[in-house]
Amino acid sequence: MSKPVAIVTGAGSGIGLAIATHLHSLGYRTVIADMNAESGSAAAASLGPDATFIQTDVSNYRSQALMFKKAFEWGGNRLDFCHANAGIDDRQLLYEDLAEEAAVDEEGLVKPLNTKTMSVNLEAVIQGLWLFKYYVRRSEGPGRGKGKFVATSSSAGLYYMTTNPQYTASKYGVVGLTRAAGPVFAKEGITVNCICPAFIPTNLCPPEMLEVWPKEHITPLSTAVKAIDAFLNDDSMTGQVVELSQENIYFRQMVDWANESQKWIGTESLAIWDKAYAKVHEKKKGTN
Ligand SMILES: NC(=O)c1ccc[n+]([C@@H]2O[C@H](COP(=O)([O-])OP(=O)(O)OC[C@H]3O[C@@H](n4cnc5c(N)ncnc54)[C@H](O)[C@@H]3O)[C@@H](O)[C@H]2O)c1
Repeated sequence: MSKPVAIVTGAGSGIGLAIATHLHSLGYRTVIADMNAESGSAAAASLGPDATFIQTDVSNYRSQALMFKKAFEWGGNRLDFCHANAGIDDRQLLYEDLAEEAAVDEEGLVKPLNTKTMSVNLEAVIQGLWLFKYYVRRSEGPGRGKGKFVATSSSAGLYYMTTNPQYTASKYGVVGLTRAAGPVFAKEGITVNCICPAFIPTNLCPPEMLEVWPKEHITPLSTAVKAIDAFLNDDSMTGQVVELSQENIYFRQMVDWANESQKWIGTESLAIWDKAYAKVHEKKKGTN
């Protein structure tokens, strides 16, 4: 019987590497998908057989689509698991004030903010889910049509980081995507969940932070592994937003309904939305 196949993005380092290592130890053929060729290939080599590195820039759709195609073929036309984990902090600060010459273009228009963080942390996750669904539906493994998708959000997706407003927005987006798409995909056997880690010392954290950070506020990589195991061990778990802090995982619920009207809109009216949107979506189908 063929082995299950997993893709982990941003697996050259930190959380992604820990999850890829864990999946590999569980018997998954594991794809290390990372932009960094040096750390990515070293990570795949450290795992040994049944691991491969595919260089990918997830913020470039073509690059990510090519990686999924290669991974699917390498896995013997099979895909079972994807952890969309690659992430970066803010590349340009929203609060920044630039001198006139640097701030405006030749037409006198204010130059756009660099929103690379949104592309890597949110758009690439949505495209990753889009690609995952495509290949899972065509998978030739025994679990044909069944798969598990996990995304990495952050504590910043539940609270906020004033130093990184785009990072915060992107991570809230991942939480929203998980909650909206999780229950829908589950109907066909694809689960969608996300993790929201607190502070895990990795290459993402500025060295100045690592030097001064109190030990008692560190979350170990093993807590991320714990959450992944929870998703792996329960096929009905979907749409879950799991906060990771210290040694613990917390299943976080959506905010409370403000009143009965909001509750009705968010629950009972769903059948009306489904009916109305069925027509709208039918009209839009295939128009990209
Ligand atoms: N470390 C923490 O405290 C913490 C807390 C909350 C959330 N997170 C999230 O965890 C995820 C992993 O981060 P980490 O802490 O392990 O950091 P890390 O820097 O150790 O690892 C991130 C990896 O992603 C790769 N990457 C970056 N941009 C990429 C791109 N465009 N395409 C492909 N690969 C790319 C990097 O090369 C790197 O190997 C991120 O989404 C991050 O936002 C981290």
